[in-house]
Amino acid sequence: MEEKLITRKRLDYNNKLILAPMVRIGTLPMRLLALDYGADIVYTEELIDRKLLRSIRRENDVLGTVDYIDKTDGTVVFRTCSREREHVVLQIGTSDSARAAEVAHMVENDVAGIDVNMGCPKKFSILGGMGASLLREPQKATDILRKLIETVTIPITCKIRILPDLEETLLLCDILASTGIAAIAVHGRTIEERPQHPNRNHVLKQISARLLIPVIANGGSKDIQNHSDIFRFKKETGCSSVMLARAAEWNCSVFRKEGSLPMENVIKSYLKHAINCDNSPSNTKYCIQNILREFQESPLGRRFLNAQTLEQICQVWKLDDYYRSKSEEFQAKGLLGRFQVMPGILDKDNNSISHKRKIYEEEDVSLMRCAFLRNSYITDSELPKTRLLKWTKENRKKMPIYNTRQESKLFCSVVTVDGRKYGSSFWGKNKKWAEQGAALVCLYFLGIIDEKSLTTCNILL
Ligand SMILES: Cc1cc2nc3c(=O)[nH]c(=O)nc-3n(C[C@H](O)[C@H](O)[C@H](O)COP(=O)(O)O)c2cc1C
Repeated sequence: MEEKLITRKRLDYNNKLILAPMVRIGTLPMRLLALDYGADIVYTEELIDRKLLRSIRRENDVLGTVDYIDKTDGTVVFRTCSREREHVVLQIGTSDSARAAEVAHMVENDVAGIDVNMGCPKKFSILGGMGASLLREPQKATDILRKLIETVTIPITCKIRILPDLEETLLLCDILASTGIAAIAVHGRTIEERPQHPNRNHVLKQISARLLIPVIANGGSKDIQNHSDIFRFKKETGCSSVMLARAAEWNCSVFRKEGSLPMENVIKSYLKHAINCDNSPSNTKYCIQNILREFQESPLGRRFLNAQTLEQICQVWKLDDYYRSKSEEFQAKGLLGRFQVMPGILDKDNNSISHKRKIYEEEDVSLMRCAFLRNSYITDSELPKTRLLKWTKENRKKMPIYNTRQESKLFCSVVTVDGRKYGSSFWGKNKKWAEQGAALVCLYFLGIIDEKSLTTCNILL
């Protein structure tokens, strides 16, 4: 009750530098980096409503984060922390006002605002009635916005693309603004246009002249290399604020008023955030690749591309000491590596308490509760099944045999190796992942991997 009475500062969308929503790029480390460099508001990557609704909220004491964890596979859907609480806008992909409101209600206290993606031209979004398809369905779009505004007290915004016709675009903006949204971000290209097409800054200017709410200019990255370019774009569009996607993806220090920094500095600072947030190696690698771009062909770039673990990536920029000291700190606090879930063998009773479903109760199976997290692995050779197969070949054993069961939409697997059975009592959402989970348990019991590399307590389900 008391908590509810605490009034939070309402996000102001005037004169702001904003990190745009970007799938895979806009995870916590990049958002924190953007804030370090001077961004005022940071958008998350688009998160689909159904996925968020499948997640549970956990406070992660070790990392000092709040995690929304997918109940079906243990992956982190959204990770945030107090440092960004008054700056982070969660962007949702939705086609349904009730689902959108449910998400808003769930995350309201962890974010500063909620944005609805109305600009994504991808097939997945359009077919699902989300993203840019909402531009052609103003009734549905306004229903979603109104319902969100009615449900939560934090500001609601939307991000759109322009339509081919100026009058239609202005009319659409009027309709959306009439819902009571706090601001609107406009990407100055149509659904059909690609990044190489010029951004229609003059259309943005007309929208901003017409609306009473702040208009956030987007789409200018191609001509933005430093801070002064941002203000040129702002002036040209007459908008209240500027939102950057690719310019920030390539060099996040573009937000610095003192000027952009060399790529190496940006990567090092990004990596430190990635380590501190226990970010997945695959996401970390992806973001760095997008900073390096053509430098991936350089000797340093090649060393980086060959790196398979976060520690190896850190070695390239001489941050491996930092990585190790942080890993030790996290492990001492109970976070045992970011690979899988929960150490310890579960006996039958324990298993029946913590799991709704049981597996192979009658059989003599060495069991652990262990969720295989695909994005913890960069290359196929690291995957548990691949390692287990290699071990059987090297030790002249029969190939592993997987026996996988399905109940409704979940899977659970037991692997037989050298006459013994091993399985994970975690039910995965697809057959392949369930088998990887079983292989993981087997690798552990065979002594091929240790407990340290087996567990991540923050994904206890
Ligand atoms: C890698 C990448 C991912 C993107 N993901 C999203 C997204 O999740 N939601 C969204 O509304 N737009 C997304 N966009 C579009 C950008 O937010 C932005 O509208 C577009 O890139 C134009 O702005 P820019 O010129 O500053 O890059 C993405 C763009 C990129 C390059």
